[in-house]
Amino acid sequence: MQRCPEPELMNAPHQVVAYAEADFSSGDHSVIERLSELIDHSRTVLPAAHLILDLGCGPGNISERLAARWPLSEVIGLDGAPSMIAIANQRLSCLSPAIHNLTYLLFDLSHSCLDDIPQIKGASVIVSNSLLHHLHNPQRLWASMKQLAVPNAFMLHRDLRRPSNEQEVDALCDRYVSNSPSVLQRDFRASLIAAFTVDEVREQLDEAGMGQFTVMELDDRYLEVSGQW
Ligand SMILES: C[S@@+](CC[C@H](N)C(=O)[O-])C[C@H]1O[C@@H](n2cnc3c(N)ncnc32)[C@H](O)[C@@H]1O
Repeated sequence: MQRCPEPELMNAPHQVVAYAEADFSSGDHSVIERLSELIDHSRTVLPAAHLILDLGCGPGNISERLAARWPLSEVIGLDGAPSMIAIANQRLSCLSPAIHNLTYLLFDLSHSCLDDIPQIKGASVIVSNSLLHHLHNPQRLWASMKQLAVPNAFMLHRDLRRPSNEQEVDALCDRYVSNSPSVLQRDFRASLIAAFTVDEVREQLDEAGMGQFTVMELDDRYLEVSGQW
């Protein structure tokens, strides 16, 4: 099935509210567990005040968990959608106990210059979840890694992967979002069709000179890119 890109940013208020209210806790938890495993199994010791970036952080569901799991880190969540950053900040201000090592930045990875925000350079960990398929030019993500990461930085990028045909898209929509609000059903379908395959992501990484990263399929709908830079 051919890829059909969807709009990059999720900024429509009803879309953002529906996304923020959805329960992604199981996937979010699994991202944190996987990252812990990657770090624990490496011989790298994270520097005391290390920087963790969550690219395309949305309402902050994963950024919050990163900050809680690595309390000595500084976590920065970045998103290009003002409505998402507004909700992320609102959630952050209501958290109890409060989280002090997390901030959010409005930043569009496709249209802004990384040199404009020096505070996001020198990251020891870079994470993204469900970002790659939004990018019309996926090389923007891989090029950003090179500019933002310190040597030996950990990378973990998870995303949907594109099914082979419409029937598989229908089956996944039936299985996972048939009881969700219509905007989430629409977005999930569009995201599946906008997503990349494992082979496409491997090609992207080879082209970026990042062929050392592992790309693998996860369960029936995700792919994961992981490794150390
Ligand atoms: C599907 S949401 C994922 C949110 C969160 N990472 C999660 O796992 O729940 C994708 C997010 O990526 C953001 N995004 C898409 N393209 C972007 C870009 N070019 N620069 C920054 N953020 C982007 C969208 O605005 C949206 O908030």
